[in-house]
Amino acid sequence: MAYSDKVVDHYSNPRNVGQMDKSLDEVGTGLVGAPECGDVMRLQIRVNPETQVIEDAKFKTFGCGSAIASSSLATEWVKGKTVAEALQISNTDIVKELALPPVKIHCSVLAEDAIRAAIGDWKKKNNVAETEGAAVAVAH
Ligand code: FES
Repeated sequence: MAYSDKVVDHYSNPRNVGQMDKSLDEVGTGLVGAPECGDVMRLQIRVNPETQVIEDAKFKTFGCGSAIASSSLATEWVKGKTVAEALQISNTDIVKELALPPVKIHCSVLAEDAIRAAIGDWKKKNNVAETEGAAVAVAH
């Protein structure tokens, strides 16, 4: 199977690899696994409590090339977005951007799940209602 140039680029030169202190209130951590293959992805965001803008994002993925590329892209995309905007990112956007073949679609789902899990963790820590971001998103 041939990987697209963008997958190869993100895989060979992943952006935002790393880890943040998950005990910090402004950091949300999402840890998700793909039942299909056992690959695991951790994605973290640091959110400005005033503006709800995601100011930094880091990831670490133990998985296939497409999962690494999807999570690398996800960290690039969430940075600078509000939490509500980041929730709008869907795995189909990632599939399109990276031109993933059908057998690799679940790798992009993992990235979407990781974004949602990180935001959910941040919301829980900061007592932000689950629906709050969604309401803002509808208003956009
Ligand atoms: Fe499972 Fe890519 S093969 S995440």
